Amino acid sequence: MKIGIDAGGTLIKIAIYENDTFTFRKEKSTDIEKVAQWLKTVPDATVALTGGKATYLNSLIPQDAFQSIEFDATFRGIQSFLDEKDIHLNKFVFSNVGTGTSIHFVDGQSQIRAGGTGAGGGMMLGLSYLLTGISDFHTITEKALEGNRDIIDLKVKHIYKGDKTPIPGELTAANFGNVLHNKDTEQFTDADKIASVLGIVGETVTTVSIHAAREFGAEYVVYIGSSFLENKLLQDIVVNYTKLRNFKPYFIENGEYSGAVGTLRLMEEK
Ligand SMILES: Nc1ncnc2c1ncn2[C@@H]1O[C@H](COP(=O)(O)OP(=O)(O)OP(=O)(O)O)[C@@H](O)[C@H]1O
Ligand SMILES: [Mg+2]
Repeated sequence: MKIGIDAGGTLIKIAIYENDTFTFRKEKSTDIEKVAQWLKTVPDATVALTGGKATYLNSLIPQDAFQSIEFDATFRGIQSFLDEKDIHLNKFVFSNVGTGTSIHFVDGQSQIRAGGTGAGGGMMLGLSYLLTGISDFHTITEKALEGNRDIIDLKVKHIYKGDKTPIPGELTAANFGNVLHNKDTEQFTDADKIASVLGIVGETVTTVSIHAAREFGAEYVVYIGSSFLENKLLQDIVVNYTKLRNFKPYFIENGEYSGAVGTLRLMEEK
């Protein structure tokens, strides 16, 4: 049995390779000792680690584990998933929307880090909690679907009020910029607030990603990371905004396991 693990800021992604197939699961990073306990029950497994908590996890386990740099592992995993689907992208940007967001440019066989933003899954959870008191990820992503961003976010069309707009009227002019205009006439529900939080996260991630794509002359932006899991609103925001800016968004199935799969591949290829 071979086990690839990406121990990130929020979630530990585990890819188990046995009988020519991968199985995937994840645990909370706060349960890292539990993952170490499980690894002690499979002392003969070959283990490859990556992610910010890899060195700490390595210190807790009996295996002599391989470790790789998270960005290289993530890229190797993305390559592996794309190969499986017979998809060949030569030049692309990938944006890993984890606790934070890291953006990379790929040209053939190598990646370079193109930037990042503190807007990501951690901001989604933290800001949603501050505004609504809700901290459960699934409750947040479900509620988001019922929210109305129009009374919270100011769109270009709101500013131009029927006049011809120089850029698409549906674009957000100011995230949260409509709140004070509506404070005396509207009740802002938890769903409205959460939808707007996903709005600023999705739009910030997309803006930074497409700027990287433009800088490097890439057509596709590949989005991965657990922030998109069962999170239709965030996916829709990112897809629509990427397309609106004339780039091509692409989501990889199981993409959040790219680091876990990639570090295993790098170990095998060493
Ligand atoms: N079950 C869950 N519990 C908590 N957060 C979840 C869950 N499922 C998805 N998420 C979202 O996924 C985000 C973490 O994504 P991901 O696992 O890709 O990041 P990470 O690898 O832990 O962080 P980083 O790469 O920044 O160190 C969380 O911030 C949250 O928004
Ligand atoms: Mg990560």
